[in-house]
Amino acid sequence: MERFASESEALAHTLAGVLAEKLERKSNFFKENCVRNTCYVRMNRYPPCPKPSEVYGLMPHTDSDFLTILYQDQVGGLQLIKDNRWVAVKPNPRALIINIGDLFQAWSNGMYKSVEHRVMTNPTVERFSTAYFLCPSYDAVIECSGDCPSYRNFSFREFRQQVQDDVKKLGYKVGLPRFSNHLY
Ligand code: OGA
Ligand code: NI
Repeated sequence: MERFASESEALAHTLAGVLAEKLERKSNFFKENCVRNTCYVRMNRYPPCPKPSEVYGLMPHTDSDFLTILYQDQVGGLQLIKDNRWVAVKPNPRALIINIGDLFQAWSNGMYKSVEHRVMTNPTVERFSTAYFLCPSYDAVIECSGDCPSYRNFSFREFRQQVQDDVKKLGYKVGLPRFSNHLY
């Protein structure tokens, strides 16, 4: 567990640095802003579900972080949206899955997309996954890049609070559209 966290931490920083360089932005942003006390590991357990077509393992969502490193076991069930269709992510015990999260989408001005994903249930087999979430400190400000930023600047604290408020009031996460500079 400790090992997964520390190896994921290193990998997440390497990947984030490379992605930042592609945007010609400072790659040390993550080293400076993504500190240990906000990054976290989540272990998911999905018990068998007798009515898989009626119950999600995990509702469709995007992750509220910079990027996620996910390990899923051989059972499968993870799906992501590609060209408006749900596509299954084939289990591969030798591979890690990297998801871009909301913060990277904002920081890159939409160059990188926070991918919508969900988990389907399995009628007979239990499933496990482990995910590492690369997050900035609560005070870190996410500045959208470019001359025509699609999102206003916001702190991670503000983003989290908004997500929590929406989930409480509306029952679902609105996410980045709340911080859009464009009215629609
Ligand atoms: C998550 C997530 C996917 C999985 O924890 O945010 O999307 O395969 N998990 O468990
Ligand atoms: Ni997720």
